[in-house]
Amino acid sequence: MSEAPVLAPSTSTQPPAAAGQLNLIRPQPYTDWAPQVTAEERAMLRRELEQGAVLYFPNLNFRFQPGEERFLDSRYSDGKSKNINLRADDTAVRGAQGSPQDLAGLYTLIRRYADNSETLVRTLFPEYIPHMMRAGTSLRPSEIAGRPVSWRKDDTRLHVDSFPSNPMLGKRLLRVFHNIDPAAPRVWRVGEPFGDFARKFVPKTHGMWPGQASLMKLLHITKRKRSEYDHRMLQLHDLAKADLDYQANVPQQEFQFPPGSTWIVFSDQLLHAAMRGRAMMEQTIYLAPQAISDHTHSPEAVLSRMLGRPMLVS
Ligand SMILES: [Fe+2]
Repeated sequence: MSEAPVLAPSTSTQPPAAAGQLNLIRPQPYTDWAPQVTAEERAMLRRELEQGAVLYFPNLNFRFQPGEERFLDSRYSDGKSKNINLRADDTAVRGAQGSPQDLAGLYTLIRRYADNSETLVRTLFPEYIPHMMRAGTSLRPSEIAGRPVSWRKDDTRLHVDSFPSNPMLGKRLLRVFHNIDPAAPRVWRVGEPFGDFARKFVPKTHGMWPGQASLMKLLHITKRKRSEYDHRMLQLHDLAKADLDYQANVPQQEFQFPPGSTWIVFSDQLLHAAMRGRAMMEQTIYLAPQAISDHTHSPEAVLSRMLGRPMLVS
């Protein structure tokens, strides 16, 4: 696929008149990363999450240890990648620069966020434990707004997460975000339910041609053979970002996550766009598809229904 031209920044799009009708934010009272929750509360949280809502924890703070505030400065980023990353089993961060003490400090900070996030998910969703796998953790210490990127990488446009080179084969993307900036809110837009989004764009997607998945793996375009699920999800990501009319007019809401707040979403299901904000932490957890109890709203269920065949056969 050829690279499409860079379009005008989407930050000029205005929320539509219907914006107030959508409310996907579900505030939660918890203040601890291993909170006390009843079985009824857990069932409600899981239902909301799997239906595509944002579980929002306004008072769940991730606190700095003395000296760690300095890592909010983007000078610790190596300049090549926008994030400082820690892979699940690594003992050093990637994408960072600084003294050995700085790099060790960054590892300690990011690792602690990974541990806290996983504890939160395990506590709130014990049914997921046999099906979950810790993936990457990142510190994103740079302002979002005004970054020059191609339309496809422009995360200020509403999209669902999907990776060109890293097929998920149906694994779900559960993400724990935290606004670690002490002063500035993290501003997101979130959009209509996945089913409504899919109805508009799935008819514009196409399947793979015979041998395409094998060839892409052979050429190292993908890390493993891409499934039809990944192929369709990637097109949905691109179609949404490329359509400025959709960006402007789809039912959506803007929400400001204040400093010190945490939120959890399925980022492969929730239409989201990160508009402004200076520093965020993010933990990704992969979830095997059999963990999902809601067979109505998940991307796999929606695509299977629309295309008339199961999406997760390999
Ligand atoms: Fe995203």
